[in-house]
Amino acid sequence: MGAVRASGPFVVAKGEGAYIWDAAGNKYIDSTAGLWFTNVGHGRTAIADAVARQLSTLAHYSGFGDITSDVTAALADRLAAIAPIPGSKVFFTSGGSDSVDSAVKLARRYWHEMGKPDKKIVVGRTKAYHGMHVGGTALSGLPLNRENHGELMPDAATVEWDDAKSLLGLIERIGADNIAAFFVEPIIGAGGIYLPPDGYLAEVRQICRDHDVLFVVDEVVTGFGRIGGSWFASSRFGLEPDMITTAKGLTSGYVPMGAVFIAPKIAEPFYAGGVWWRHGYTYGGHAGAAAAAMANLDIIESEGLLEEAARLESDLHVVLAPLADLPAVSEIRSGLGAVAAVQLADPSTAPAVIGALRKHGVSGRAAGQGALQISPAFVMTSAQVSDMAQRIGDALA
Ligand SMILES: Cc1ncc(COP(=O)(O)O)c(C=O)c1O
Repeated sequence: MGAVRASGPFVVAKGEGAYIWDAAGNKYIDSTAGLWFTNVGHGRTAIADAVARQLSTLAHYSGFGDITSDVTAALADRLAAIAPIPGSKVFFTSGGSDSVDSAVKLARRYWHEMGKPDKKIVVGRTKAYHGMHVGGTALSGLPLNRENHGELMPDAATVEWDDAKSLLGLIERIGADNIAAFFVEPIIGAGGIYLPPDGYLAEVRQICRDHDVLFVVDEVVTGFGRIGGSWFASSRFGLEPDMITTAKGLTSGYVPMGAVFIAPKIAEPFYAGGVWWRHGYTYGGHAGAAAAAMANLDIIESEGLLEEAARLESDLHVVLAPLADLPAVSEIRSGLGAVAAVQLADPSTAPAVIGALRKHGVSGRAAGQGALQISPAFVMTSAQVSDMAQRIGDALA
């Protein structure tokens, strides 16, 4: 708000492929794919047309009780088929924060149905970001996001983001009988783009399995190809989570939609009859959003964009590395998925750097503590990646 008052808003008016244009007609390379979501690039008329067709047939009705729409049911089947959870059920939401809070509530309800109502504590990690709803904010490891709102949600705990022993220690201290679930972003995103230490994900997965703690992977950023070469980080790392939270790349952000993938054992008590999970969102499974997701998945498949994201993983790793030599930069974090961070040596310079990037034709943003977020659309070519890196280097110099 302060930035808007000081220098006015940055108004975006158009997008095409890996580029956006501001309202004055200036062109920028989009280094972030919006907020990590435009996986198929901007300006896809195939998605717009699919949504238009769906809205003129049925925009939406309801996803409550036994009601759904044909396109939504078809999408659920399609997602279950690519989900790295065998036999996955799919619960639709309106975005990532909805997905996270749905998973928090379902984890607790599940244990209640299992006769273990004390299993309530949900565990997150330092640096973690899990959206902005009350549950997800309490679960996050970003103190600035949590502070000064009063107590958001009791029964939330935090462990070190890069140390599996820290999770084990917490379980030993407070007891697995009190812990519902552990939430993990495969790559820490909004908290500053930190890649998991080697072996970390497999280790925490095993700890959760050994202690009967639900393992929930937050793939709002990494899902639908951003991890590179696979639909999900959980597939790439063979994690078989109990739940996966998603959004963003599901529709490439063309319309809002999220989904939680749920292992059959967790869903079963609520299908068995007699027990309701009283939870749902008006726009969960919105038919127009489902049509957008279908068209988006078609594009990812037909254009081989999972492989393009894998190409970006190595492109970014190679072309960003030399930026580490600039005095303004302390570190480059890259090499896993179509994401990278250019860490500013002085995080307080981030607003000025973003301004300089715009002057050099790059639309960017800082995550965490002064980490320039690099998360391009999967259609960004290798030549465009090099051009982007050159411009970022010029701006930083
Ligand atoms: C890992 C993660 N979880 C949850 C969310 C929240 O998603 P949304 O902003 O769609 O509510 C985000 C958003 O950036 C995210 O990065």
